[in-house]
Amino acid sequence: MPAERPAILMCPADYYGIEYEINPWMSRGRQSDPAIARGQWLALHDLLISLGADIHLMQPAPGLPDLVFTANAGLVWEQTVFLSRFRHPARQGETPLDDAWFQQHGFRTVELPEDWSFEGAGDALFCGETLFAGYLIRSDAAAMQWVGSEIGCRVIPMQLVDDRYYHLDTCFCPLDDETAICWLPAFDEYGQRALREHIPQLIEVAPEEAARFCCNAVVIGRDVVLNTGCPQLEATLAERGFRPHATPLDEFIKAGGSAKCLTLRLDGEDAARWPQ
Ligand code: ARG
Repeated sequence: MPAERPAILMCPADYYGIEYEINPWMSRGRQSDPAIARGQWLALHDLLISLGADIHLMQPAPGLPDLVFTANAGLVWEQTVFLSRFRHPARQGETPLDDAWFQQHGFRTVELPEDWSFEGAGDALFCGETLFAGYLIRSDAAAMQWVGSEIGCRVIPMQLVDDRYYHLDTCFCPLDDETAICWLPAFDEYGQRALREHIPQLIEVAPEEAARFCCNAVVIGRDVVLNTGCPQLEATLAERGFRPHATPLDEFIKAGGSAKCLTLRLDGEDAARWPQ
């Protein structure tokens, strides 16, 4: 259950940059501006605090430019964290640092038993008691099923078919236990059907706003924090009783990330009802 003050893990953008290319958004020829990136990160951090969040910080590390994307540290469930096992070697050095942080802060960490890939909350999101799981590009379906069986929850695996939307959180965002934002073309037909069947209120976004990472939003109660340049989704959210807050995150889109990727909810997303 969400605590009174939502707890969110972030990692400062001190060593963030485009040092390798592991998704179509990344190009070493299109560097991020370090000062602007740090400013955008800080504005997000301050906005989340103003919305009532308690921000916990991880120490950034040179040579690990994507450590800033804490959503990929693991999947948090109660006091347990299922640690990520990154598909790409470039990010594998993050896991020992994530593991140490969680252990130092009272979490039990679990490694996957097999050689599967699994990219944490980037690919696994609860909506109600169900774990919606994106697989193929970064995470393996078998890893998701294993995590679900450890938790004792239903898993709905959904295949991601568009390399630009390589993590589930780039194209799907639960807002509460029956409402979610999504960019359906990122899923195969079965995945699209599963979303339509299992989520009573599905908000489909416009293609140009999907490409501004509008689905990569941070939800705190009825407040929804997202990148700028997504006016249609902002209007829809407002109509449905949510409060959208836009903050510029273009420097992070250059790495294929936005608001949600830069955060990891430590006390359970508002949309999650963890099985007891
Ligand atoms: N450059 C990072 C990668 O490709 C971005 C990760 C974004 N994180 C997320 N949860 N979508 O792995």
